[in-house]
Amino acid sequence: MATAVMPKVFKNFINGEWVEARSGKAFENRNPANTDELIGMFCASTEEDVNNAVEAAKQAYKKWRLVPAPKRAEILFRAAELLVKRKADFARDMTREMGKVLAETRGDVQEAIDMTYYMAGEGRRLFGQTTPSELPNKFAMSVRQPIGVCGLITPWNFPMAIPSWKMMPALICGNTAVIKPAQDTPLSVYHLVQVLAEAGVPPGVANIVSGSGSRVGATLTKHPDVSVISFTGSTEVGRLIAEACAPDFRHHSLEMGGKNIILVMDDANLDLAVDGAVWGGFGTAGQRCTAASRVAVHKNVYKDFLERFVERTKALRVGNGLDSNTDMGPCINESQLKTVMEHVEIGKNEGAKPLTGGHRLEGGAYAKGWFHAPTIFGDCNPKMRITQEEIFGPVVAVMPMQSLEEGLEIANGVIYGLSASIYTRNVNRAFEAMRDLYTGIVYVNAPTIGAETHLPFGGTKQTGNGHREAAIAAIDFFTEWKTVYIDYSDRLQRAQIDTSGFGSISS
Ligand code: UN1
Repeated sequence: MATAVMPKVFKNFINGEWVEARSGKAFENRNPANTDELIGMFCASTEEDVNNAVEAAKQAYKKWRLVPAPKRAEILFRAAELLVKRKADFARDMTREMGKVLAETRGDVQEAIDMTYYMAGEGRRLFGQTTPSELPNKFAMSVRQPIGVCGLITPWNFPMAIPSWKMMPALICGNTAVIKPAQDTPLSVYHLVQVLAEAGVPPGVANIVSGSGSRVGATLTKHPDVSVISFTGSTEVGRLIAEACAPDFRHHSLEMGGKNIILVMDDANLDLAVDGAVWGGFGTAGQRCTAASRVAVHKNVYKDFLERFVERTKALRVGNGLDSNTDMGPCINESQLKTVMEHVEIGKNEGAKPLTGGHRLEGGAYAKGWFHAPTIFGDCNPKMRITQEEIFGPVVAVMPMQSLEEGLEIANGVIYGLSASIYTRNVNRAFEAMRDLYTGIVYVNAPTIGAETHLPFGGTKQTGNGHREAAIAAIDFFTEWKTVYIDYSDRLQRAQIDTSGFGSISS
């Protein structure tokens, strides 16, 4: 539906104020299910805007780092309460800008709520270590220190959850932040930062600068006053960020691609496994880095599984995520839809068997959106591009396997290592898979998706660079250890301590 009203213009948030980009330019945020719907205009920021935001964050850091962590926590706790109150509205706005169904956007906001409460709780812990010293009258401990200004670069598939995974641990540890939202979904980050501001986060502590990766993201990643970069997105961009951070040894945490697999053994509960493949593969239209884009099925149940999987997939209702009957929404934008369509062609050309879907959805309710039918390829092999490359759309490649050994080899035979799952009722197989799947996350009898905020999230190989998000892992990333030795006697007193008979103590 065409809108005659003036679009709402969302400004940058710098030093506690909403300010226009210096360029005066703005970009559009449109609904991927109906591109006639303009969500709003957002600042097309440039280097100057980033510099202003970083300067504000740098100044604010001087005080914020000294605010006792339990006090910082009180602010986050209030923010979590505001998120709870506005959950329904934020979910609707997220579905409008991102396309995924309301049940999923509610889950996304809920993850932000969970993360905010969790990190508020950490404000009363932030535990360090006390350790006995080698010497008498000496005390040794290591304490966590904040690091400084954090540049947070966030993706469009989890528009509020992932920003919260970065923002909340950064702030609770005493850092300040400049966040650059994905251009496809900036509104949800605005809501998140607005809530933080209302909850009492002081000016300059949490700033937003919207715009392109090549202007805003690139400036942040090489800014001398930015000490930490946390990025979620593609492996190609992650590599550029690592290179930009390397000369100054800027800390950086990268969460990147995935080619996650479900292994279905011949003793699996097939109903459960089919359900897992449907939601792991087509939830969020396959646009999760944890999406199950590969399924390897034991030859004894291959045919049965595939029939049921195809049948369930054919019944999925694709449409506008605001409609409560919809199971799967659109791709995020035209370029993502094209990537999906290209890979479908690649799959056909390399001999994979199209079993359902395989085309864009057009006309009628689909005319104004970037919809693609949920697509299953059967009889794939692990060497194909569609079983190797991350597509980030509703395409699942299914392969037969002879044994668990072969399944594990297939599973580990990709450049990524985020999430993997096995369906089996055999406890030995489950434990073996848990040990040998080289991924950051393993599920048993559940799909590859559904991470919880208090457990480490992230992957091996080209999925990550060794860090994890969420949980205490996030606190580890957003702090640095300081080791402190306190000698509480002068040399004279120490000399008087009689340790004879208790082994030698060097002085
Ligand atoms: C992602 O796709 O980038 O485990 C994150 C899950 C979600 C997070 C996915 N909670 O699927």
